[in-house]
Amino acid sequence: MLNLVIAQVTRLLELRRPELMTSRIIIGMSGASGAIYAIRLLEMLRTLQVSTHLIMSKSAELTVAYETDWKIADVKGLADSWYAIDDIAAAPASGSFRTVGMIIAPCSVRTVAELATGVTGNLLTRAADVVLKEQHKLVLMVRETPLHFIHLRNLSTLSELGAIIAPPVPAFYARPKSIDDMIDHTLGRVLDNFDLDCGTVRRWGEDVGKETVVGSRRTVRS
Ligand SMILES: Cc1cc2nc3c(=O)[nH]c(=O)nc-3n(C[C@H](O)[C@H](O)[C@H](O)COP(=O)(O)O)c2cc1C
Repeated sequence: MLNLVIAQVTRLLELRRPELMTSRIIIGMSGASGAIYAIRLLEMLRTLQVSTHLIMSKSAELTVAYETDWKIADVKGLADSWYAIDDIAAAPASGSFRTVGMIIAPCSVRTVAELATGVTGNLLTRAADVVLKEQHKLVLMVRETPLHFIHLRNLSTLSELGAIIAPPVPAFYARPKSIDDMIDHTLGRVLDNFDLDCGTVRRWGEDVGKETVVGSRRTVRS
């Protein structure tokens, strides 16, 4: 009963402030290497006051444990809401859930395969499928290497459907000084897709790249 009242009050507040309804992002976290991308992304979106809705696969819970010192409960605590992977009745399973889109960070090739075939077996892939059918933005930070033909064919299918394929590949032109710099730059470029700027992108021709190599001479642009 109390939950119902809280939900109603939240909904009323959202209706009074429509901007709250358009700044919801679903964060999917699957079991590819790079759990830190999702963790850092949740922190950045919190700074930007964007409401985050987290769905973690079971393998993602494993990669968090293998790759970071974070506890699963603390990762979930970074999100405004989180949903169990098997909770297929959760709000993001429906197209009526208002969201600007979804980022899967990192995205495994298993999750890619589910999305490319439309056979969605858990809440993460169901939510992403819904985002696609509603024609919202779906950004896939696909992490695998090398990629074989089926991976590439699946990614090509998803690209045709409108998904943004954004593998977490470092941009060395940004002259990163640390792994954190690389992560933040990559995530900043992902957030560019949603017109969100966390100030972590070193932009070519603005923050970096003003020195241009012309033949063997370097020209410094003002
Ligand atoms: C430490 C670790 C690293 C992994 N790295 C990758 C990876 O980079 N890319 C990938 O596609 N799968 C990777 N896997 C395998 C996936 O976790 C596995 O295929 C899993 O079934 C994916 O399920 P999900 O898509 O539901 O998360 C990794 C697994 C572990 C334990």
